[in-house]
Amino acid sequence: MTASVISAGPIPGTGRAAQGAIELRQVSKHYGDVVAVDELDLTVQPGEFVTLLGPSGSGKTTTMMMVAGFEEHTAGAILIDGKPVDTLPPRDRNLGVVFQNYALFPHMSALENVEFALRMRKVPRAERRQRAEEALDRVGLGKMGGRKPRQLSGGQQQRVALARALVFNPAALLLDEPMAALDKRLREQMQEEIKTLQKGLGISVLFVTHDQDEAMAMSDRIVVMRDGKIVQSGPPEEVYNHPMTDWVASFLGDTNLIPGTIVERNGEEAVVDLGGLGMAKVRDRGASGENYAVSIRPEHLKFRTRATAGNGCAATLVSSTNLGATVRHRLTAGGHDLQLRELSSDSAARIRPDEELWVGWDADKAQLLVLES
Ligand SMILES: Nc1ncnc2c1ncn2[C@@H]1O[C@H](COP(=O)(O)OP(=O)(O)OP(=O)(O)O)[C@@H](O)[C@H]1O
Ligand SMILES: [Mg+2]
Repeated sequence: MTASVISAGPIPGTGRAAQGAIELRQVSKHYGDVVAVDELDLTVQPGEFVTLLGPSGSGKTTTMMMVAGFEEHTAGAILIDGKPVDTLPPRDRNLGVVFQNYALFPHMSALENVEFALRMRKVPRAERRQRAEEALDRVGLGKMGGRKPRQLSGGQQQRVALARALVFNPAALLLDEPMAALDKRLREQMQEEIKTLQKGLGISVLFVTHDQDEAMAMSDRIVVMRDGKIVQSGPPEEVYNHPMTDWVASFLGDTNLIPGTIVERNGEEAVVDLGGLGMAKVRDRGASGENYAVSIRPEHLKFRTRATAGNGCAATLVSSTNLGATVRHRLTAGGHDLQLRELSSDSAARIRPDEELWVGWDADKAQLLVLES
């Protein structure tokens, strides 16, 4: 057996052994002809917050279920803190789990629900009560232990589920769309609470969402999945600003995709012929394929005066829509339809329809990528 690539050393500053490393090696899951997960290689370092992000059916839940031990993998190996867990039942994997459909027991109080996780793990009765109370305290529900789930709001129920997942001091948390049922405000509040808990406990988290904003806000690293495979992985800003394919770029939000021909590539930078938009210097992360395009996020496209123009060209304004905090301008330039987004406070009563416009962008905000579709 080969050694794990993850070393479980002490957590800096705590003297406590870092734990919660999760490693998937070439893991696949087939349901008959359906390939739900396809030779996945994935690691979560101790203390790291990793998010699986992908469209419906891309294999996120299946991946989580295999790590948790609720589903068996068809091929490959899963290791937790360097040890293969293939034969371990879920409760012996030392993972706290909150799944969207992993409901609380309706006939038990909040406190009893949390205690249940300890009962399952044969923790003595005397110790159980106190630990469950502490866990409820930690999620801000110390005073509500006596309530039944139906006497709690959706957000409070989610927090009980979180307390139940944390109470036995797991090595890692697996959270599969734990906030899908919550409204926007509660969701954002829970996001911050989960981040605070995670940092405080130094615990690693494998998180699932198909909400790109949530992924951006929470993660140390985003793993973008499609059809059971990883298509890109990296820190949020990198995946957002430097998508490797048009599919990743579009999945992570609005973008301008301008097809082009590579004229020159040298390491980090490329020169691309964008046809009507001229020659552009752009960032190059080494993506390789048959057809290329340049991706520029709408917020990175700027109105410019011709005098300051680097990358860019003349444009015609088609429409402007006020979206509250931002304004979206639709433009045509060099035969392309473009979107430019700016803060409402910066926005242009200054633009007049008859005015000649110039739009441009900074080279490090434009990314060369492979056109798949
Ligand atoms: N028990 C099953 N039997 C057959 N196919 C399954 C089973 N469970 C999942 N699948 C298939 O595996 C693929 C991945 O499903 P999975 O639930 O992992 O997707 P997901 O990324 O979690 O999607 P969502 O965002 O909708 O939750 C899908 O094509 C799904 O139909
Ligand atoms: Mg799912």
